[in-house]
Amino acid sequence: MPFLASRLDRIKPSPTLAVTQKARELKTAGRDVIGLGAGEPDFDTPDNIKAAAVAAIRRGETKYTDVDGTPALKQAIVAKFRRENGLSYTPDQVTVGSGGKQVIYNAMMATLDPGDEVIIPAPYWVSYPDMVLLADGRPVSVACRENSRFKLRPEALEAAITAKTKWLILNSPSNPTGAAYTFAEMKALTDVLMRHPQVRVLTDDMYEHLVYDGFRFVTPVEVEPGLYDRTLTMNGVSKAYCMTGWRIGYAAGPKDLIKAIAKVQSQSTSNPSSISQAAAVEALNGPQDFIAAHNAVFKERRDLVVEMLNAAPGLACHRPEGAFYVYPSCAGAIGKTTPQGRTIASDDDFVTYLLEAEGVAAVQGSAFGLSPFFRVSYATSTELLREACARIQRACAALI
Ligand SMILES: Cc1ncc(COP(=O)(O)O)c(C=O)c1O
Repeated sequence: MPFLASRLDRIKPSPTLAVTQKARELKTAGRDVIGLGAGEPDFDTPDNIKAAAVAAIRRGETKYTDVDGTPALKQAIVAKFRRENGLSYTPDQVTVGSGGKQVIYNAMMATLDPGDEVIIPAPYWVSYPDMVLLADGRPVSVACRENSRFKLRPEALEAAITAKTKWLILNSPSNPTGAAYTFAEMKALTDVLMRHPQVRVLTDDMYEHLVYDGFRFVTPVEVEPGLYDRTLTMNGVSKAYCMTGWRIGYAAGPKDLIKAIAKVQSQSTSNPSSISQAAAVEALNGPQDFIAAHNAVFKERRDLVVEMLNAAPGLACHRPEGAFYVYPSCAGAIGKTTPQGRTIASDDDFVTYLLEAEGVAAVQGSAFGLSPFFRVSYATSTELLREACARIQRACAALI
């Protein structure tokens, strides 16, 4: 009898965390490596948020809290949804977990039975399919090509829906492409969903605040209030508030689903850190002006990276609406040979070549379900990005 459970054979360790780890190891071993794999802002958590955490410790808020969030944080989340998205929820429609990742995982554990299908537009955040698999569901990946700016088309959604479809997972702005849906694009999708009442929507709005050039973010229920009773609107403080290490994510939706998510959490991790919850209250209720300041820097970096990558022979890079990623095509490098005599047959080969030849760590498109591309995170300093893109240009020019 094998010791490890067979369910582990269905999944792989997170490839994005693996790249970050590999870059760290090479750096420790003395190699000059620039990591473009990180999914977190390089900015520090704002001081007012840190101070709120310290104050919570001093007040003695260091004990267990309610399993799925303190009343104060739930109130702050209710206010956030009303203020920013025009959505009306009560505290018992809100759940808080240790990161957005846990909220999605719990939602899958709480709702999927063997054979239930979950539609996941590709390229996707690496964890969605594996979470579905761990919960005994069946991920149904729908390719969203470059010519639709990596966005799900209504006819592709319609074609993917079956009697077994339980969820559609939407992520806008997207990790890994940065693509975000306009109101009209989202409405075209919600129109399809209105024709299929058995399909629930999990909308991952984690990158809501990271949009550029005046882009207006929308979330499905805001566009189609008719979806209110079957949508889980997920968000968190990790990205916009530079709080990846604090581990707070949240969601709002129908009461029965919220209760089921709390049940899973009550038998696994219990409440998220009491101190992080106090910090998240300050993040949501406190000053928001630093977000615009960060976005100005991110936009500048996005434009720099897009220009420099488009100047690299064999690469083609779109200019996305948001997040801090670009997803360039390396189709023009496939079939070429490296100066060391190795053929580039896939995006896996391409990123391995970038790392070995020039010490640049990016993530292969195969990890996100759409090849031949690679993901570059521009959540790193402008000088490092400039240097990394110059190295990528050099590596591409050296291919024969
Ligand atoms: C699309 C997307 N959703 C969810 C998460 C999870 O965020 P958290 O750090 O809150 O668990 C991430 C983090 O990388 C992400 O990129």
